[in-house]
Amino acid sequence: MRNILEITDATKQFGGLMANEGITFNVGEGEIVGVVGPNGAGKTTLFNSVSGAHTLTRGSIVFDGQDVTQKKAHEIARLGVGRTFQIPQSLNEMTVTENVLVGALMHTADMKKAAEKVQETLELCNLAHRKDMLAGKLNVAQKKRLEIARAMATDPKLLLLDETMAGLTATERKDAVDLILKINRMGVSILTIEHNMDVVMTVSNRVVVLVSGKLLMVGTPEEVTSNPEVISAYLGGGSDTDE
Ligand SMILES: Nc1ncnc2c1ncn2[C@@H]1O[C@H](COP(=O)(O)OP(=O)(O)OP(=O)(O)O)[C@@H](O)[C@H]1O
Ligand SMILES: [Mg+2]
Repeated sequence: MRNILEITDATKQFGGLMANEGITFNVGEGEIVGVVGPNGAGKTTLFNSVSGAHTLTRGSIVFDGQDVTQKKAHEIARLGVGRTFQIPQSLNEMTVTENVLVGALMHTADMKKAAEKVQETLELCNLAHRKDMLAGKLNVAQKKRLEIARAMATDPKLLLLDETMAGLTATERKDAVDLILKINRMGVSILTIEHNMDVVMTVSNRVVVLVSGKLLMVGTPEEVTSNPEVISAYLGGGSDTDE
């Protein structure tokens, strides 16, 4: 399988803190890879490095065959990395449509084409009936879907999802899982940070476990859940405190 993402020795230091240290793993094209780990393990930091929100202290990131280690966030987005944020970044004073249009305008200046992309994306993310609502008025589940819609409107090859299920009810989680699987079937590779173990194990082909900034293991959901070190890291780390 061809790799869409290759992370090698990813290390990010903030002052005296090693938020990520020596992390190496790949995401195959078409794969869904889950990222789990206790609070503060360095999951979001890794996403920030991949998406160019900051640059690595050491190591490299290759996306779709290109070294993007030193590239800026807008360049990486344009190459095909979409992301959502743990704290939704939608523009609350703008409508749902306007928020998604921001993403759609990344690849085209043609308003007609962009509007078509917005419509298609709103339908995909089940937000078409909310298209004229101000983003600030959406409920939690809708805000999470808007985050995904904003990223999907940029036509990503790789989608980074940072806790898109946090705060959702069981029913809403099921809908979100269906959406993620649907996006994946459209050919989008996915790297997803997720605290809910049932969800991770349902959607992921492989799971990456981070603990204290380091990679503890990469494996299939079965391998990860039966690993004693993972179990103890979780029992010690309180993984579900966000739920
Ligand atoms: N910009 C920053 N400056 C300084 N320290 C940071 C910065 N970003 C993250 N950190 C620190 O790096 C560590 C890892 O944080 P990160 O947000 O990556 O963890 P996480 O695994 O996403 O946690 P959570 O599950 O709570 O979202 C934490 O100790 C955090 O305080
Ligand atoms: Mg985080």
